[in-house]
Amino acid sequence: MGARGVFITLEGADGCGKSTQAALLETRLAALGREVVRLREPGGTAISEKVRALLLDPANEEMSPECELLLYEASRAQLTRQVIEPALARGAVVLCDRYYDSTYAYQAGGRGLDETLVRQSNVLGSCGRVPDRTLVLDLDPATAFARATSGGADRMEAEGLAFQERVRAAYLRLANEEPTRVRVVDASGAEGEVTARLLGSLEDLVPGAER
Ligand code: TYD
Repeated sequence: MGARGVFITLEGADGCGKSTQAALLETRLAALGREVVRLREPGGTAISEKVRALLLDPANEEMSPECELLLYEASRAQLTRQVIEPALARGAVVLCDRYYDSTYAYQAGGRGLDETLVRQSNVLGSCGRVPDRTLVLDLDPATAFARATSGGADRMEAEGLAFQERVRAAYLRLANEEPTRVRVVDASGAEGEVTARLLGSLEDLVPGAER
């Protein structure tokens, strides 16, 4: 019998180093002989990439918070049905850079949309799929923000530092609410040290991850 699929999501405010860590984790988990499917939200399918372009284009200044919420959910639903569910069914490790906790942190926390509404939308957008583990990379918001915007800001980053601070606070609330699934990992220090911390938080799900 093959290995059971494992669904891992990476979360954090802009500039926390998630994308670098996702690549490093992919290499380490693949070295254990697992099929690793690395994805990034919004995106990951032809339809979802088109939605991503709409969401991040700084020219779309007039986008309403409700439209934004539904576009993130639309992108997610397509990715879930087309890629995530089949991969998990094959027994792969799915490593997704952002998932519905981003919507909670950014659209409820950052934008101030009604929490209940956002949570309900998340159930629809994720087709009811819940990550097995969610790793929140936590970094001082000012450091993360400076890093994220050093090469220019996309539509979300243009919201500024106070927005990113609300995003971080929302992630910490989630970790408090769901301590088994959501783990906060210190994202400061050398890349390798952060990777080791992340792998340590996956050992129970992917035996050998910690080595
Ligand atoms: P991206 O350039 O992929 O940022 P990062 O590398 O930090 O993940 O842009 C994704 C942006 O979209 C990021 O600012 C977070 C935001 N976002 C939301 O506001 N809600 C969501 O549900 C998701 C998935 C992302």
